[in-house]
Amino acid sequence: MHGAIRLVCSSQNRLKTASWGLLFLGATGALYWQFGVLFEQYWGYPVIMTVSVHSEGKLFPSVTLCDMNPHRPRLASQQLQALDEFARENIYALYKFNFSGSGDAPLAEDRGPEPTFRLDRSIRLQKLSGPGGQNSVGFRLCNSTGGDCFYRAYSSGVTAVRAWYRFHYLDLLGALPTDHEHSHQDHGGHFVFSCHYNGQDCQARHFQTFHHPSYGSCYTFSGMWAAQHPGITHGISLVLRAEQQDHLPLLSTEAGIKVIVHKRDHTPFLEHLGFSIRPGTETTIGIREDEVHRLGSPYGNCTEGAEGAGVPLLYNATYTMQACLVSCFQLLMVNTCSCGYYFYPLPAGAEYCSSARHPAWGHCFYRLYRQLENHQLPCVSRCPRPCRESSYKLSAWTSMWPSSKSEDWILAVLGQHSRRHLGRSPGQSPGRSPRWSQRPRSNVAKVNIFFQELNYRTVDETPVYSVPQLLSAMGSLWSLWFGSSVLSVVELLELLFDAVALTLLLGCRRLHRGQGSQRRAAHT
Ligand SMILES: *[C@@H]1O[C@H](CO)[C@@H](O)[C@H](O)[C@H]1NC(C)=O
Ligand SMILES: *[C@@H]1O[C@H](CO)[C@@H](O)[C@H](O)[C@H]1NC(C)=O
Ligand SMILES: *[C@@H]1O[C@H](CO)[C@@H](O)[C@H](O)[C@H]1NC(C)=O
Ligand SMILES: *[C@@H]1O[C@H](CO)[C@@H](O)[C@H](O)[C@H]1NC(C)=O
Repeated sequence: MHGAIRLVCSSQNRLKTASWGLLFLGATGALYWQFGVLFEQYWGYPVIMTVSVHSEGKLFPSVTLCDMNPHRPRLASQQLQALDEFARENIYALYKFNFSGSGDAPLAEDRGPEPTFRLDRSIRLQKLSGPGGQNSVGFRLCNSTGGDCFYRAYSSGVTAVRAWYRFHYLDLLGALPTDHEHSHQDHGGHFVFSCHYNGQDCQARHFQTFHHPSYGSCYTFSGMWAAQHPGITHGISLVLRAEQQDHLPLLSTEAGIKVIVHKRDHTPFLEHLGFSIRPGTETTIGIREDEVHRLGSPYGNCTEGAEGAGVPLLYNATYTMQACLVSCFQLLMVNTCSCGYYFYPLPAGAEYCSSARHPAWGHCFYRLYRQLENHQLPCVSRCPRPCRESSYKLSAWTSMWPSSKSEDWILAVLGQHSRRHLGRSPGQSPGRSPRWSQRPRSNVAKVNIFFQELNYRTVDETPVYSVPQLLSAMGSLWSLWFGSSVLSVVELLELLFDAVALTLLLGCRRLHRGQGSQRRAAHT
């Protein structure tokens, strides 16, 4: 070992010995300080992101489309009328405007059973004046004994009216029997005019339909094909009806079609993701896929599946952080308010909130929701990110469709086609059958979705220090300060071991001799 030799060889010269000794100690100190820094970094488990590009074809993602025309549940038509009447009163009191309500008059055959539902008339829209003199609109929520009141206030009147209406709407839906959704299965058959994917016509088995209480009839298209070529002809092309219907004008105010591109086995969260397509346009959407692979413990938090999360997943789908957060909120809601929020699935044994069974659930819900907004709920720490995650980067182009020149014939052909093949859905009443020849352009839309390129990128987390890298960093530090190898360290250890052994041996012998002479002294 360098330095140690000089220490031994310069034993005649005290000055040299002292300076070599100091240098030796200084180098040892610097080395161990640097080792400390190195290990601190290593135990921080830092990662770097490595981006790589792959070129094999990926499975085409699922596309969920919703027409944003929620239907009036048939079982609740009377109750909804009472709600619309109440909304009219409230809006008139605030804005002196008589809103005309929905065009849907309940038909005699649509009558549900006798209403068990009781409109909570104590929750009214009010004008509130804030501390700064600015006006806001909101409603007051109190607990079941009328105490602990607070206001849910919105600076925008439109947001306030929608939130207030939505609250009463959910209150009403929560009182319905849970299997009423089956009556919605009929709807929606008239929403997709034509569908074409990868050069073939879509089959019914590619589609899954469901009805969302605020996004209306929804379709999920998931064809099982891996795109072999990029480009529009290998994607999916849909012609859709984008007609505005006034079933629930206070609930849905947007005209268009909601689109979400997601992985096949993931639940689409319509409230949180997606974008809307404007009626009367052709929208072309190019997809690029990015995949993120996380390393997991100890480099960070991620989970392979629902088992790794702190919350049981309420969705029968692959783990996503959003599904976990929603499940977490719903479980907290069921625990604190003893009923579930209508938009989310229920855990076993729970029921949806409605003021008939759970008086003042709104007070409890909005209190919890405010905690969620203020990040006071423990959901984020219970829901780690998944270790493998795909995200889709979308680019969109639009043009007018159909053009004013071709509008007439396209709409006529679509109308014929639709009447022949899809028919009128049984849920529609006869008086409102669409008159296709007079249909303006803004009632249809076209969407093309395709892989923009077949390359996809993966972003992998890679540890900055693996064990070999740590050892080589230690080795270079050691040679920087001492210029020696592992074997020199073993030599040093041997020296130490020998010295210790020799000392012990000598010590033992001296002790032995001392005892022997004592014994001899005692003899004499
Ligand atoms: C609104 O309707 C009420 C009755 O429901 C009526 O008294 C009032 O005059 C109407 N107001 C307007 C502006 O039409
Ligand atoms: C309602 O709030 C009041 C005032 O905070 C409280 O005294 C009362 O116990 C609450 N009632 C219930 C049922 O929580
Ligand atoms: C991972 O989550 C646990 C709690 O679940 C937390 O204590 C820990 O700090 C997290 N680790 C990282 C690297 O975020
Ligand atoms: C979950 O989904 C799978 C396949 O999609 C199905 O076989 C299973 O029955 C579903 N489970 C529940 C509880 O819905």
